[in-house]
Amino acid sequence: MRTYLVTGGAGFIGSNYIHYIIGRYGDSIRVINVDSLTYAGNPENLADIEKRSNYTFVHADICDAEAMRKLFLENDINRVVHFAAESHVDRSIRNPDVFVKTNVLGTLNLLNAARAAWEQPDGSYPDDHKFLHVSTDEVYGSLSEPDTYFYETTKYDPHSPYSASKASSDFMVKAYMDTYGFPANITNCSNNYGPYQFPEKLIPLMINNALAGKPMPVYGDGLNIRDWLYVEDHCRGIDLVQEKGKLFETYNIGGHNERCNIDIVKTIISTLREILPDDDPRKAHISEDLITYVEDRKGHDRRYAIAPDKIKAETGWYPETAFEDGIRKTIRWYLENEAWMEHVTSGAYQQYYKEMYGA
Ligand code: NAD
Ligand code: DAU
Repeated sequence: MRTYLVTGGAGFIGSNYIHYIIGRYGDSIRVINVDSLTYAGNPENLADIEKRSNYTFVHADICDAEAMRKLFLENDINRVVHFAAESHVDRSIRNPDVFVKTNVLGTLNLLNAARAAWEQPDGSYPDDHKFLHVSTDEVYGSLSEPDTYFYETTKYDPHSPYSASKASSDFMVKAYMDTYGFPANITNCSNNYGPYQFPEKLIPLMINNALAGKPMPVYGDGLNIRDWLYVEDHCRGIDLVQEKGKLFETYNIGGHNERCNIDIVKTIISTLREILPDDDPRKAHISEDLITYVEDRKGHDRRYAIAPDKIKAETGWYPETAFEDGIRKTIRWYLENEAWMEHVTSGAYQQYYKEMYGA
């Protein structure tokens, strides 16, 4: 039975990935989710899975060398899928240190634990033992010319403390592959959206504010472009890279779905107005009047756009969810899971929001 160690599985993409692999492989795999449950980690995201006999949650920090060593010692882990990270650019601008600690040192620690468990006396590694490092398109920097894209060969040019920390972690994984023949892949993905995303990120924040009749804060001129991918498509891409990709390779994952921020915000407003029943009292206050332009993010990258040619050619992956369908599914999910939103926005979120956006 193959055992997956998923790090950061209580977060947004990690929990969607665990749902995806359990849905796909059922009881034929074991899943161990290691997560330190920062503000972004929420066991509620896996409430429907936690009682399964092939799922185990381990509350630990990836920076804890002894805890990671024990995990590998006590479990015959074949696959590591490494999501655990500090992931929010705005937080990295306010407090870079923890990004270096978790994203760089935590990744190094995990690599060391996996290598110690997997490397054989002759320096080789057993078959079907793989480490997949989940990274971001932000490591490539910002595109200034139209019709240009990020390829796997694009030079790294990170600008935020977040993207610099992810770039460092990517380089560390590359170094382990080149130096020790460590069996790994790196995936660099564009902006994800979908269920269970914490409302500090653009799409869930805007949905939540619109429903509450609060200002919808758009940074700068609202014309920055991101390449949006439905989270399940990302999860399938990660799975296909492990199943069909070549070891030691990097794969870019993205859906050729470039949109500027202001268009995303307007789509959320119009979709909410369309979906909400006429007798829902919130409908009256959801309009473009809520859009509020605020001070720009420092060092704000202008445009990201992924060229997914390699993953398409080598694994057959393509984004199955059109944005129009994905955003509807996402908005419906948030409408059907208002208790989830209430839980994650009570407490510490209030303080974060006040510090970030003012009263
Ligand atoms: P998230 O912030 O929603 O979740 C991160 C998870 O990691 C949380 O459950 C948190 O508790 C856990 N974690 C944080 N520090 C930890 C530590 N020291 N030890 C153990 N667990 C820890 O993030 P996400 O949006 O799901 O992103 C997951 C990964 O995917 C990250 O590596 C991110 O860089 C990458 N990524 C994200 C996107 C995106 O659009 N969200 C796109 C491309 C790549
Ligand atoms: O590109 C992949 C990256 O996408 C991931 O590596 C990151 O983990 C993930 O957080 C995301 O980063 P972004 O900075 O692109 O996502 P965010 O949702 O924070 O912002 C998206 C865009 O919306 C960005 O141009 C900033 C803008 N924005 C964001 C917020 C939160 C606003 O205009 N207003 C807001 O309130």
